[in-house]
Amino acid sequence: MANSKNRERSGFSDVQRSARLSVAPMMDWTDRHCRYLHRLLSRETLLYTEMVTAPALVRGGALHLLEFNAEEHPVALQLGGSDPGELAEAARLGAEAGYDEINLNCGCPSDRVQSGAFGAVLMQTPELVADCVAAMRETVDVEVTVKCRIGVDEQEPEEVLPEFLEKIRAAGCGRVTIHARKAWLQGLSPKENRDVPPLDYELVHRMKAAFPDLHVSLNGGIATLAEAKAHLDRGLDGVMVGRAAYHQPADVLCAADPEIYGTGSVSDPAESVRQMLPYIEARLSEGARLNQITRHMLGLFAGKPGARQWRRMLSEGACRAGAGPELVEEALVQVGKRAAA
Ligand SMILES: Cc1cc2nc3c(=O)[nH]c(=O)nc-3n(C[C@H](O)[C@H](O)[C@H](O)COP(=O)(O)O)c2cc1C
Repeated sequence: MANSKNRERSGFSDVQRSARLSVAPMMDWTDRHCRYLHRLLSRETLLYTEMVTAPALVRGGALHLLEFNAEEHPVALQLGGSDPGELAEAARLGAEAGYDEINLNCGCPSDRVQSGAFGAVLMQTPELVADCVAAMRETVDVEVTVKCRIGVDEQEPEEVLPEFLEKIRAAGCGRVTIHARKAWLQGLSPKENRDVPPLDYELVHRMKAAFPDLHVSLNGGIATLAEAKAHLDRGLDGVMVGRAAYHQPADVLCAADPEIYGTGSVSDPAESVRQMLPYIEARLSEGARLNQITRHMLGLFAGKPGARQWRRMLSEGACRAGAGPELVEEALVQVGKRAAA
């Protein structure tokens, strides 16, 4: 069994509870800077990495892809792959790096992922997914979970989804996140595949009823914390929010701790910006560029006074040579002035 050094250090243990609300894995978006910001907004919400492919870790030795900040716990590593041995090895590396959960991507329809025979195409081979889950489970002591679609192409979700869930559960997966729409492997871009196939929330609710001992999270099109709460109140175990959490992080995450978990208080986005300043300074001193961090902060005041100015000051200023935390402080002052006006 692989050790989980950072996890022990964080004292973190109850990922299932955190999974009542999660921020979805999103390539190029949910990097460590983004997760650090989200963690300041909500202490409890489960955060996912971008997908990291098992070949990149195991064959490519790209261990830098596993780096994260200890403050991010609870944090789950999402893996892409379809070779049980390779995934087991990647999971071992992830658990050793300290991730609280290893998640297998069975939902991403992009061409690059299809050519590697993983992502949503795995919905067609539930036995292989079960083998992958079993191999990872044998290797790590952290929870192994799956993120999937309700089906792909001409599959009949009502038939294939229960079979898929049955197989992964038997292989030792106790928690699944279902993106409640099909993926079309040909003809739709990855972006269209997040909007065009219709959502079927009721099917996900029926799956929870059919598999009461499986922890089932719903994903897809959830825009507000109130919507997430409504699904939880109806009996689902978790809700995963993607784009809304990225574009309006304060709306989704600031009230999550008291409203979803019954802990803490509503966080203040302005205070989170102040807490980001030492983080920004530390990353810049390591060679990061300001824009790499602030691009995730543009939506912090979405819908609030000063939002446009905040966004403009950061997006225009953060790319300039030598830009530092003082730009963020100045933008925050402007937001404060607008709010007071
Ligand atoms: C920019 C972007 C990148 C994404 N990358 C991944 C990924 O790496 N792994 C994955 O399982 N899903 C990925 N997704 C899909 C999301 O995790 C989520 O399933 C989808 O956006 C639907 O949820 P939403 O409607 O709440 O955004 C990505 C979505 C977006 C917008």
